[in-house]
Amino acid sequence: MLTVSKVEAAVDTFLEKAHIGLPVAMDEFWSGILQEHGTGAEEFQELYQLGVNLGKLYRAMHSSLGLANAVLSQFESPRLRTAAVWLLQGRIPTEGKVLDLGCGSGVLLCLLASCYPNARFTGLDKCKEAIQIARERVAGLGLRNIDFQVGNVARGFGNTVGGDYDLVLSVLLFHEVLVEPQMSEAARMRYYHFLPTGPIDPCFSVGELDESIVRKLTRNAALTSVVKVLRPNGTFLSIDRWPTIRELLKWIRLTETHELHVLLAESDHIVFESRGSDDQLMTERLRATVFRKVPAQRPTALDILRFRGPQMSEQACQEGSYEGDIAELLYSALPRQVGFAYQAEYSDGSGIERCEIGLSGDFGYLYRTTSCEYRSLVLSPCSIFSRQAQSIQEMFRGHFDSCTVTFRGCDPSVLQQLRIPLKETFGPRTQ
Ligand SMILES: C[S@@+](CC[C@H](N)C(=O)[O-])C[C@H]1O[C@@H](n2cnc3c(N)ncnc32)[C@H](O)[C@@H]1O
Repeated sequence: MLTVSKVEAAVDTFLEKAHIGLPVAMDEFWSGILQEHGTGAEEFQELYQLGVNLGKLYRAMHSSLGLANAVLSQFESPRLRTAAVWLLQGRIPTEGKVLDLGCGSGVLLCLLASCYPNARFTGLDKCKEAIQIARERVAGLGLRNIDFQVGNVARGFGNTVGGDYDLVLSVLLFHEVLVEPQMSEAARMRYYHFLPTGPIDPCFSVGELDESIVRKLTRNAALTSVVKVLRPNGTFLSIDRWPTIRELLKWIRLTETHELHVLLAESDHIVFESRGSDDQLMTERLRATVFRKVPAQRPTALDILRFRGPQMSEQACQEGSYEGDIAELLYSALPRQVGFAYQAEYSDGSGIERCEIGLSGDFGYLYRTTSCEYRSLVLSPCSIFSRQAQSIQEMFRGHFDSCTVTFRGCDPSVLQQLRIPLKETFGPRTQ
């Protein structure tokens, strides 16, 4: 495998050859494209400033290869460069078939095709104008192992692109596809936004979803087609903008209802700096999730810990306490027997806290979420979990002075296994 610096050099050489440059100041960008690309650029600028219709914006930006390259240079080049460097570190098959969904004008796919002449690449996008530019780009670059098709991913694409793919790739596509109104707004809210939207509800797993919702989810045409076109054991790699851990979890849950098994240990975060519309530099973090076409399995705790990098995992493992997204991912992956759960609403209106104590195999767990998005998970062997009991008791009793406490369940046999004295801890209120 090439070293990172060699990969970076290869990416830069390609981008230069494909006329993708670096972002400039916004004023310079607008005056440059208006001067060089006339009415196409005017239309693009107007739609960009209105910021409403993505479909029209994509059509306008692809009115010529020159304009498409200028827009990509300004808004996408740092992301394309970082994603390409990440993908070229052994994540693309050197032989075999690769499909890119929502490929736009194909810069990334052309780059991959130029690096792997023995593999075969197909790009699919619903924007006819983008595909036209992609074909022009291929001709200009003289690539022979790549072709492009027009097609709407949301309507299924198995018949358009054939099958037996080793890798299906999607970059910044699914956050757009999943919000497309394929069903009524009410049904969409019910099926795609199936994780609770309130800030304090703990996430839950597909196994806990209503059967009818799972059946609906399984009919997601785009993901059904991904599974259909992949060969057995093939890889689906999605790089996307899931701004919160909740959105990422929804995405993982949705793929789980298909035959796609998330490999968190192979997944990653792609971080890069780009220029916002107000000329400010901002750091963006995209989630790269890797899935394998195998009968669905839930990710293991080890997968989840590796997702965040060894340093943090080691520290958290020693302490047995996790916060934020790792806490939530681990909580959702644990087999759980709830011992005790309550909700405390602060009388001064400062928020709500939820707490759940339970058993997960030989481990006791304490999971806390607050309406300020705080999430924590403490895991320790049952034999020593009673040490946690002290702090749980104190926390719980403290709440009675300042909160309205609502019980959400109590299983005395689980508390017994955790060696938490029921009466002493929760008093007569749990009777
Ligand atoms: C943000 S752009 C990303 C383009 C490219 N993947 C990249 O990384 O530069 C999203 C692309 O997805 C395409 N797209 C959106 N919805 C689609 C759908 N339902 N089917 C096919 N393509 C779609 C758009 O036309 C657009 O080219």
